[in-house]
Amino acid sequence: MKRIIITGGAGFIGSHVVREFVTNYPDVQIINLDALTYAGNLENLKDIEDKENYTFVKADITDAVHIQAVFEQYQPDGVIHLAAESHVDRSITNPTAFVMTNVIGTVNMLNSAKSIWQDDFTGKRFHHVSTDEVYGTLGETGLFQEDTAYDPHSPYSASKASSDHFVRAYHDTYGLPVVITNCSNNYGPNHFPEKLIPLCIHNILNNKPLPIYGDGKFTRDWLFVVDHARAIDMVFHRGQNGQSYNVGGFNEWKNIDLVQELCKQMDEKLGREVGTAEKLITFVKDRPGHDLRYAIDATKINKELGYQPSVTFEEGLSKTIDWFLANEDWLANVTSGDYQKYYDTQYDK
Ligand code: NAD
Ligand code: TYD
Repeated sequence: MKRIIITGGAGFIGSHVVREFVTNYPDVQIINLDALTYAGNLENLKDIEDKENYTFVKADITDAVHIQAVFEQYQPDGVIHLAAESHVDRSITNPTAFVMTNVIGTVNMLNSAKSIWQDDFTGKRFHHVSTDEVYGTLGETGLFQEDTAYDPHSPYSASKASSDHFVRAYHDTYGLPVVITNCSNNYGPNHFPEKLIPLCIHNILNNKPLPIYGDGKFTRDWLFVVDHARAIDMVFHRGQNGQSYNVGGFNEWKNIDLVQELCKQMDEKLGREVGTAEKLITFVKDRPGHDLRYAIDATKINKELGYQPSVTFEEGLSKTIDWFLANEDWLANVTSGDYQKYYDTQYDK
């Protein structure tokens, strides 16, 4: 039986990747390696936790000795590395945590992969999951291509850019068989409510203000999380060694337009009068160093691997809202305790 270590598998995107692999590859042992930080939640994997090809290991990727021991115990053939600190606003408050997990943690993962594979790289693969934010910001036009120069602005994107450079360096220097995916903003079930879409869903449900940074004209390119997991599956299995693949759905939205669409769908689904949620929109102080626009050119993954998103944005958003409405317990659990402290500090309430 082959073995794949997936890091960050208890998080938002990681849990969808774990499900994709556990379900599609019953003959492959999937080892979910996660430290269970505030963002990690094993509830996300309730439906597959009893599968024979699934194992959970609690480990912190900043702990090199422990990570090496996990690699020696499980002898993985593949690694899909998602574990990271992932929220830009938190990176502005505490950049060091991002360097530790995203940079040092990634180097620890690379060292352990190199150490157990050094004799033979045949059939081995290290897939690093990254973001389009490493490219910096676009003006009103243009798209990020795989060869767009890196130009990160936030501590989060700087740490992800650094980790991408280390992954490439291990390929170029040691011949480690790596692939990198740089994806646009994800949304969907299990999204932690510090990020724009789930935060607004949570606040609409609770009749709280919807905080829009600056003038709301900032633009993001949104992809349904299940479609990101499908792209990772394709690139992990069929991508070319040493290559990067941009992942996106050609789906740009200005924040204010997106929140208005969300308000419309939420009012309909909750049976509230049209315009109820929109009244909650509140413009607040802008994020420092806020990137104006992200937009992905996903031509390469489409041409080389035949990748296409499976749902439109309207379908994906509707499924996402339905999931949150059907899982209010999940939302209540993750918004108790430390979340309240974070929310009060971030939004000065
Ligand atoms: P998330 O914050 O929801 O989950 C991160 C997971 O990593 C959690 O389960 C957490 O417990 C785990 N983790 C954090 N620090 C760890 C450590 N030191 N050791 C082990 N585990 C640790 O993040 P996400 O949104 O699911 O993002 C996953 C990956 O995808 C990240 O690498 C992120 O940069 C990348 N990405 C995210 C997006 C997005 O829109 N969310 C878009 C493109 C790329
Ligand atoms: P976010 O979901 O944090 O993702 P990222 O910063 O990685 O793109 O934010 C998406 C966009 O929404 C971004 O332009 C910042 C904006 N935003 C708000 O306007 N208000 C908020 O409360 C949050 C969390 C984000």
